Amino acid sequence: MDPRCLDHLLTEEEEIRFKRDGYFTIDDVLPDDLIDELVPVVDRVDGEYRKEIDGGPNDRTNLLDFIGRDEAYVQLVDWYKTFPKVFGLMGWHIQLYHTHQIVTPCEPEGKTFEKDGPGVGFHQDSGRLNIDIETQPRPMISLKVAFVLSDTSEVGRGNFTCIPGSQLWSSFPGEDRKSIPDGGVQVCAPKGSAIVFDRRIWHSGSANYYRDPRRVLFYGYSYRWLRPRDDMTVEHYLDNCDPIQQQLLGVSQTGGHGYTSPKPEDVPLKAWIEENLGEEAVVA
Ligand SMILES: [Fe+2]
Repeated sequence: MDPRCLDHLLTEEEEIRFKRDGYFTIDDVLPDDLIDELVPVVDRVDGEYRKEIDGGPNDRTNLLDFIGRDEAYVQLVDWYKTFPKVFGLMGWHIQLYHTHQIVTPCEPEGKTFEKDGPGVGFHQDSGRLNIDIETQPRPMISLKVAFVLSDTSEVGRGNFTCIPGSQLWSSFPGEDRKSIPDGGVQVCAPKGSAIVFDRRIWHSGSANYYRDPRRVLFYGYSYRWLRPRDDMTVEHYLDNCDPIQQQLLGVSQTGGHGYTSPKPEDVPLKAWIEENLGEEAVVA
């Protein structure tokens, strides 16, 4: 683990915002040189994906399991400015269970946010999890870190759109999921920032009326007992990963039983937190 994690632990204010609003943003998470490294990778992978699905240049794409397609993506799994927020919110018994890359090309010239609308489709993440779980409110179980590689610091640029506080609501507060309901916001996140959000929050992508395509990488973290939400094609990375990265990429050294009753070797993140933050930082 990158020891710089210790300088970016979850703050009290972030925790309050996450629990109250269902999300928070962090500026300056990715340096310019890393963005410059990632953008061509995103564009190449997106171009390959468009061919696979026969997608046109103006279609919005949502590529699941992008992580397996280029090693450059792996460094963000335990990125020192975001990963401490994840274990700060969820604890040590976690894994990466899902990745998806969204590219939102620019709308054609002449179209505007005011005239042509926000282009949203509100939902809660996780599909059947929302139906099969019986409690109200539903449990969180997972969250996502969205790395913003394009400038969405003003509305109408394909921004992540959500209803703050709606993570505790089991139904959508409106008739039409294709418009932004009262209380909804377009989160203004600059290039290089990250949005950390509760998977239960009612949210959406949106249309991009800016001059640049909007590129965002979503990393979903869950407790280790949840099945992956995509193919998690990471086997080819494991030999070069440290034990904590292996934990995050879904390895259970003691086999299937270790996903619910982990032994220390299954969850090296626990020992790292204990060693660096003290026993009191480790719950159960
Ligand atoms: Fe979503």
